[in-house]
Amino acid sequence: MRPVELPQLPGLNQLRVVLGVCGGIAAYKSAELVRLLIKQGCDVQVVMTESATRFIAPLTFQALSGKPVHVSQWPAGNNDRGMPHIDISRQADFLLVAPCTANSLAKYAHGFADNLLDNLVLARNCPLAVAPAMNVEMWNNPATQRNIACLQSDGIHVFGPAAGEQACGEVGSGRMLEPFEIVLELARAINPKPLAGKNLLLTAGPTFEAIDPVRGITNRSSGKMGYALAQAAWLMGAHVTLVSGPTALPAPYGARLHPVQSAKQMHAAVFTHLEQADLFIGVAAVADYGIKNPSASKQKKQEGQPAGLDMEFELNPDILAEVGQWAQQRAQQRNKPLLVVGFAAETENLDQYASHKLDKKKAHFIIGNLAQDALGADISELTLYSHTEAPIRLEKMSKLQSAQALLVHLAQHA
Ligand SMILES: Cc1cc2nc3c(=O)[nH]c(=O)nc-3n(C[C@H](O)[C@H](O)[C@H](O)COP(=O)(O)O)c2cc1C
Repeated sequence: MRPVELPQLPGLNQLRVVLGVCGGIAAYKSAELVRLLIKQGCDVQVVMTESATRFIAPLTFQALSGKPVHVSQWPAGNNDRGMPHIDISRQADFLLVAPCTANSLAKYAHGFADNLLDNLVLARNCPLAVAPAMNVEMWNNPATQRNIACLQSDGIHVFGPAAGEQACGEVGSGRMLEPFEIVLELARAINPKPLAGKNLLLTAGPTFEAIDPVRGITNRSSGKMGYALAQAAWLMGAHVTLVSGPTALPAPYGARLHPVQSAKQMHAAVFTHLEQADLFIGVAAVADYGIKNPSASKQKKQEGQPAGLDMEFELNPDILAEVGQWAQQRAQQRNKPLLVVGFAAETENLDQYASHKLDKKKAHFIIGNLAQDALGADISELTLYSHTEAPIRLEKMSKLQSAQALLVHLAQHA
């Protein structure tokens, strides 16, 4: 499997992380976790349990983190003042235990401290997260579930576990999250959450209007901006539903993905989820026209005929305009406002077209960008247009950074 590369996530650069590794099969994945944390700019100190050293050698972590690994609470030699069980955690901003065994999480729940990592957990004065990894029956065991509930009520972050096929051959809950998912969970845990409790509904990507079963009309939207917004919103605490046309991108972690093809399907999916939404952002490049009667069978080339396909077009629903209209009606009926935000990708006259779109679609914000710079690119340069403020121009940044800056602004209105 190709390693997952993450964009730079907020708050991780120079974060001092103590990574505890316990004795489970998933310990091998922690090597990749260290690599990803180091790439994010974290300072990583690995501490292993004795059992963990049976699964992976400390040297692997030493090489990846650039620091000697601690295992024993009885250090040989005269290093510092001989109290690693306190000192290591005092140099940490965050203590992360991944994988966390059933044994170790039971000990953390009850305050046991008979190895170095347990002592660090008990003596810490920084936040703690555990990423459980164990057999499905171990996970479902009432003792483990009691211990997890106990840790959660103590304010300890629990990352995962995931469900699926396990190393032991059984299937179910108890798999450790993938290393990149743990890094994202860590970023979410440490960052402010101005969108906590908010439901964000997003559209992203192109639409695909079928001509026949194998051909269709689409556009050059990559989905990158919408997916970056989904990821950033999740990091900021939102519940995210992403209605996406066909893209080549992996689903943003933490978001509920509703894949669609055509503009009509996107329209239906949006209105399925709209009632719960506090914030709607339409980033998708929705086709204005669809094919009226797509052929049920593949259209054949007409040899010797002049070029040309017999197609009739029909106007697609205007999703943003309908959402704007819906939001106005709901605002009159009930006390649950919906903030409506649309995107405008234009090749010229951005200020003029975006301002016009603001009125026409009854949106609260239109986010303008130049199509030739934005489509498919990894960076964006956004301008926020609203009825109440002068246009706000964000500097050129990565799409994830632009998404964060935009959402910080929108969070004040949502
Ligand atoms: C091959 C093997 C694989 C194991 N995998 C796990 C595991 O994935 N999760 C777990 O909770 N325990 C697992 N165990 C049991 C732990 O290693 C055992 O409970 C140990 O005492 C944990 O020590 P620690 O919590 O100090 O690291 C495994 C044991 C063996 C022999």
